[in-house]
Amino acid sequence: AIEPLLASNQTLDVNEIPQRYDEAQLWRIYNISEAMQRRVPVGQMLEQKFGGNIWKENSKFLDISIARDQLKAARSFLSAHRLDAQILSDNIQTMIDEELLEGIQATASQQGKRAKKATRSSMHWKDYHDLDTIYSFMREIRSKFPNIVRLYTIGQTAEGRDLKVLRISENPRENKKVWIDGGIHAREWISPATVTFILYQLMSNWENQPAHIRGLTWYIMPVMNPDGYEYSRTTNRLWRKNRSPSRQNQCFGVDLNRNFDIGWNGYGSSTNPCRDTYRGSSPASELETKAVAEFLAKRKYNLESYLTYHSYGQMIVYPWAYKAVKVKDSSILQRVGSLAAERIAQKTGTTYRAAVTHEVLGIAGGGSDDWSRAALGVKYVYTIELRDRGAYGFVLPPRYIKDTALEGWTVAETVAQAIGPSS
Ligand code: ARG
Ligand code: ZN
Repeated sequence: AIEPLLASNQTLDVNEIPQRYDEAQLWRIYNISEAMQRRVPVGQMLEQKFGGNIWKENSKFLDISIARDQLKAARSFLSAHRLDAQILSDNIQTMIDEELLEGIQATASQQGKRAKKATRSSMHWKDYHDLDTIYSFMREIRSKFPNIVRLYTIGQTAEGRDLKVLRISENPRENKKVWIDGGIHAREWISPATVTFILYQLMSNWENQPAHIRGLTWYIMPVMNPDGYEYSRTTNRLWRKNRSPSRQNQCFGVDLNRNFDIGWNGYGSSTNPCRDTYRGSSPASELETKAVAEFLAKRKYNLESYLTYHSYGQMIVYPWAYKAVKVKDSSILQRVGSLAAERIAQKTGTTYRAAVTHEVLGIAGGGSDDWSRAALGVKYVYTIELRDRGAYGFVLPPRYIKDTALEGWTVAETVAQAIGPSS
């Protein structure tokens, strides 16, 4: 099939007019048989013919949003192929509007409280924040703990924003290291919220942390894709990629989690700059990928864990993703992942599942998680897919931030314990 030049939500936003999703629906399509998928890749067809936007694709179902004016045609397509869709949302714009309103109200009431307490920080976890607020929070942490915290600018984005990483360490030379990142995908707002919360958990109680936490060196990057994040806040709530312009056509953005140098030329990514899983023109073609890869390659000694936070699906997955093979020590990764899931269930009652990536999410090359294992030999490599399971998807209402972030923190805590104190 010949692909149209532009996918629905990939058009040039010359005037940065916010993209709207009035009466756009979110569908979950079950029971796509493998045979069918080989003949008619359902997600791809819905994207190309009906301007759909894939939210999530795994071995059991496909979540895809369809614009109002394509609903009828897309429904006929489904019934022609004897497929059924469950409607997860019948108006995505309403979800986006409600998310925004709830956040504004929460921030307002938070500001009222803060005025009374006379604290300076504008950080809290009742709303999602812009990049400036997140970066100010990182600077605040550094000035409160100047002896153990370092703030790095590891590079710049295509639009000139800084890429920032915090290091927390009492003994950088000898400690075992953990890397944590968020915001690889712009629209997964719960991810930077969770990573900043992890930072807060660590530092608000640093002196009383157990040895297996205090004895580690923590590298924390809340937003790996600042351009995409800001774009998702100002212009298109459902933007996934970064914002680098393509040389081939008028489309923007590379999927940073398909751009790392591992299985890059393989399955699960696209060569088309207009698609949401565009892998880029070459491995590590993107400034964000390059900055992170170079920063970590220099620090691979003692690097014990690579944790990367995404949404949604409530899963804790580990390599490999780029091929249908398990890593040699997968039973350890399964055990620690399951332990984290058990603890989450105890704390918040939410169900997470630990699994090998390719089994539950399908094969996809170019991921940062696989790269950290393949290129650096990191042991505890996990991608954490935070809440929810599709009720709101990426547009998770702010009232769920706190508990979801606590779930993310629980994974980090459990992994730290598994690593054990540095000797
Ligand atoms: N939702 C994530 C993505 O599509 C899952 C990442 C899992 N790891 C991977 N290497 N595919 O990027
Ligand atoms: Zn993601």
